[in-house]
Amino acid sequence: MRNLTITCPDDCHVHLRDGAVMAAVVGDTARRFARAIVMPNLSPPVVTTAQALKYRERILAALPNTIRFTPLMTLYLTDNTPVEEIAKAKQSGQVFAIKYYPRRATTNSDAGVTDISKVYPVLEAMVEHDLPLSVHGEVSDNADIFDRERLFIDRILEPLLERFRDLRVVFEHISTREAVAFVKSGTDRLAATITPHHLLLNRNALFEGGLQPHHYCHPVIKRETDRRALVEAATSGHPRLFLGTDSAPHARSSKENAFGCAGIYTAHAALELYAEVFEEAGAIDRLEGFAGIYGSAFYGLPRNTDRVTLRKDVWTVPRSLPLGDDVIVPFRAGKACAWRLADG
Ligand code: NCD
Ligand code: ZN
Repeated sequence: MRNLTITCPDDCHVHLRDGAVMAAVVGDTARRFARAIVMPNLSPPVVTTAQALKYRERILAALPNTIRFTPLMTLYLTDNTPVEEIAKAKQSGQVFAIKYYPRRATTNSDAGVTDISKVYPVLEAMVEHDLPLSVHGEVSDNADIFDRERLFIDRILEPLLERFRDLRVVFEHISTREAVAFVKSGTDRLAATITPHHLLLNRNALFEGGLQPHHYCHPVIKRETDRRALVEAATSGHPRLFLGTDSAPHARSSKENAFGCAGIYTAHAALELYAEVFEEAGAIDRLEGFAGIYGSAFYGLPRNTDRVTLRKDVWTVPRSLPLGDDVIVPFRAGKACAWRLADG
C-alpha cells in the first residue's frame, strides 16, 4: 500500500509548552491532528479554568489562520484544587480532563498530588460533572523505576476505580503488559493512551552504544515483552486504547545534560510513526480507529469529518529542529521514517 487516507486523528495527550517553545512545536501537532488534549504541566502549572482559557488563546494565536486545530484543555490537579473549580471547568466547554500527577513522578510534577485521598471531594465533583481524570500512572516513591507503573495499578488505580465507580479515567502512556491487561479487563469508564515510542522501543534503547538521553521519558521504556504487549493491544482494535503521543519537547541542552530531562519529542512524525507500527503488525486498517475514532468517542466528542492522507515514502528525520534559541533533537533524528504526510 502506498497511500492511506483516514479520519483526521486526535492526539489525546500532548505537551505544547508555552512561549517560544510552543511557537516552535505547535505546528507539528496541528498539521497532523484535528484536536489534542493539551497537558497542563507548564511552570507554573495550569490550575484554574481561567488560566486554561488564556493558555488556549495563546496556542491558537501561535498558529496560522490556515491551520484548523482545536486545543482541548486540561487542569493540573493539586492538593489544593477547590471543588468549585470543577463546575467552572465543565461550564467553560473548553476543559476536557483533569490531570493527576503524583508529586515528583515526572517533569513539572512538583505541584502534583501528595496523597490521592486529599482530592476525593474534587473527584466526586468530577463524577458529578462527568469530567474524566487523566492519570500519570507511576508511584513516586523509591520503588524500582521499572516497577512504578505496575505498583501504581495495585496501590492507587485499582482502589481508586473501586471507590469512584462512575469516574472516567484515562491511564496515560501505558508502558507495561500489566497495564494492558488491567485496562482490557476494566469497565467502559477506563481507557488508556499509548505513545509511539513505547510501541517502537524497548529499554535497550536507553543504553544502546552509550547513554541515550533522547530515549528517556516517563514512564521509562520497559522490556521487549512489554513493547510486544502494547503493539498487540494497540493494533487489536480495542475501543478503549487510543492514540496519545506524549510528545514532550525539551531543548537539546536540557536533554544532553548531567540531569537530563524526561520527555521524548515525536510530534514531527507522530502519525507516521504509528503507521509504521500498524503496518509492521499487519493491522494498518486498524490505525483509523486507534488514531481518529476511539479517543474522541471516549471523550464524548464528535468524530472529525476532515481526512488526512499518509504516503509510504521513506524520508530522513532531521538531526535537530529549531526551538527558540536552542534546538530540539526529535525522535529518530538522522534516521529513516517509512511514512510521510501526503501534503507534508
Ligand atoms: C513529560 C514532560 O516533559 O512534560 N515528560 C515525559 O517524560 N513524558 C511529562 C509526562 O507526561 O510525564
Ligand atoms: Zn505527558
